[in-house]
Amino acid sequence: MDFKTFTKKYLDDFNTYLLSHIENKSGTSLEEAMNYSLDAKGKRLRPLLLLAVLHSFHQPIKNGYEAAAALEMVHTYSLIHDDLPAMDNDDLRRGKPTNHIQFNEATAILAGDALLTLAFEILTKGDLPSEVKLALIQKLAITSGYEGMVGGQQADLDGEKKQLTLEEIERIHFRKTGALIEMATVSGGIIANKSEHILKKLAELASEIGIAYQIRDDILDVVGSEEELGKGVATDATLEKSTYPSLLGIDESFIQLEQRLTKAEQIIFSIAEMDDQFQTDLLISFIHQLSLEEYK
Ligand code: IPE
Ligand code: IPE
Ligand code: MG
Ligand code: MG
Ligand code: MG
Repeated sequence: MDFKTFTKKYLDDFNTYLLSHIENKSGTSLEEAMNYSLDAKGKRLRPLLLLAVLHSFHQPIKNGYEAAAALEMVHTYSLIHDDLPAMDNDDLRRGKPTNHIQFNEATAILAGDALLTLAFEILTKGDLPSEVKLALIQKLAITSGYEGMVGGQQADLDGEKKQLTLEEIERIHFRKTGALIEMATVSGGIIANKSEHILKKLAELASEIGIAYQIRDDILDVVGSEEELGKGVATDATLEKSTYPSLLGIDESFIQLEQRLTKAEQIIFSIAEMDDQFQTDLLISFIHQLSLEEYK
């Protein structure tokens, strides 16, 4: 199956599940603010990748719903906080005013906090064995925390107005974006009950996809438009962020993106060599859609 068909088949059902978690219990604007950012035009790339890994191992994708929803909640919280005036100070996200513009800064901070904690509550639910749930909780804690996404966000801010090396930028990308993508690929392997060897390969795959995805995002910040992206453009240059385009220029960034995607494909084929249940076509098609051929 290709990734487009997979998305068409499962996205609506997953979205219904994702949005079923937040009820207006407290009667404050908090739930409204949480739902506002969650129920927006996010591409759902991370949850779809998690479900695609399960599908590639011939596992029922419903087994991944809790982890996929938890992951999308953490990602959404990271975006709400990323847009705050103290961070990237953006006013458009997922085609709508950012959370702090629509509500206020305090509510945006709290909506992010609440999405983060709700993610862990959701991981305790469902019918997976307790040891699998524990492994998923640990994986999300590590990938979203100081070693992963949050640490990467700090390093990204520290890198503003500085000339970093390629290795330093790569390390920031790996943490701020690669870590949550690692949650996507490795969770699929954990739920499918795969060996440590396979989990390691899935983490390597996430590292390539994560760095590629941030290079792609930084290229789109230069060559994309607000309408197609649903968020502001040229913000990286305004904030003097350390990115591949700022260090290497746009042409070399396209080349680096393609190289990462090629490495990701090689890892996908190497997983098939290690596990004869594993089917490569869906993930290969996922990698192809990250290419920015049409922009060159
Ligand atoms: C944006 O992520 C932030 C990055 C890590 C590049 P996405 O491009 O996946 O954003 P949504 O979820 O579709 O809004
Ligand atoms: C954001 O990177 C990464 C996380 C939110 C963890 P960016 O700051 O480049 O993301 P956008 O461009 O605002 O979506
Ligand atoms: Mg940022
Ligand atoms: Mg940003
Ligand atoms: Mg960006």
